[in-house]
Amino acid sequence: MELVNKTGSSETNKKNIWAVQSGKGGVGKTFVTSSLALTLSKLQYSVLVIDLDLSGANIHTALGLNPSHLNLRHYLEGQKDISQIIIPTSYPKLSYIQGIWDSWLPFNFNEFDEQKFFTDLRALDFDYILIDFGVGSFEKYFNLYLECDEKILVSSPEPTSIEKNYRFIESYICQNLKSKSTPEAFAKLISTLREFRHKTLDKPFSFKTYLKENEGLTLEPFNKLNREPIKLILNGIRSHSVSDLGYSIKSVCNKYYGLHIEYVGFLEFDNSVWQSIKNREPVLISQPFTPVAGQFLNICKNLTEPENLRAVV
Ligand SMILES: Nc1ncnc2c1ncn2[C@@H]1O[C@H](COP(=O)(O)OP(=O)(O)O)[C@@H](O)[C@H]1O
Ligand SMILES: [Mg+2]
Repeated sequence: MELVNKTGSSETNKKNIWAVQSGKGGVGKTFVTSSLALTLSKLQYSVLVIDLDLSGANIHTALGLNPSHLNLRHYLEGQKDISQIIIPTSYPKLSYIQGIWDSWLPFNFNEFDEQKFFTDLRALDFDYILIDFGVGSFEKYFNLYLECDEKILVSSPEPTSIEKNYRFIESYICQNLKSKSTPEAFAKLISTLREFRHKTLDKPFSFKTYLKENEGLTLEPFNKLNREPIKLILNGIRSHSVSDLGYSIKSVCNKYYGLHIEYVGFLEFDNSVWQSIKNREPVLISQPFTPVAGQFLNICKNLTEPENLRAVV
């Protein structure tokens, strides 16, 4: 399949790599990643899902698969090529890379060569590659997240999750600015942000204004974040009126960070989700007509169709 890149030109080698992240654990990243992957594969796209939760892999559980001995560690430690650790699943057009589940020997994150990782991924022949991230504001995780073509952020409707997602977004902006700023200018930015948090600034903080007015920083990396907006998914909604929270998060990001994010859809809280996980069969397979299946379809359409055709909420 030929993919169209963000500038509108087609590039057969360009892959659509989607990252799924959240500020807080347990809000449904793994459920969302595995279900988006299943939905895309049902739409006849070839999909690779990668478990990059280095604190404990469980995509295989969400997909109802047995963990594979062959896993990401074999690639990261240089024993295998990436193509040698791809495992086909029983679901048509869906393959996966088992995360590190032999975690009694933690992988040294500093040794993660992100450039090689993305070069290797982009050479693979899949329409979509989805990455389930572990939670945590690690520099490496931000660098990997930044490199992905689609940056998905999952939030539950609860304040604990929303608050942690704001912290995640702030770190994401700063991490992006760090490599493109002088160390002095970046240190000054961080101390200004601290003043803002302590409410000792005499005017509201705006990244845009600050970047324009201060030496040693450039606006372009921030503009790039706006051109490639984070895609927000609300998961575990118990009442449809709560789905409006997505609009509120979007407008808070606009107001306080000057950052444009897109709210691409919500997913209901559905008891059949955890029951299916317990029964080791994904809910989209055991109950293909559950409302959540339609909600995933809606989100996938929003993410795969060109921007002018999207029904972005
Ligand atoms: N929409 C939902 N409805 C009901 N239960 C859900 C839903 N999303 C997630 N869950 C439950 O929450 C648990 C944690 O989700 P998980 O995807 O493992 O979170 P994370 O990867 O963010 O830590 C799942 O095992 C599942 O039982
Ligand atoms: Mg997870």
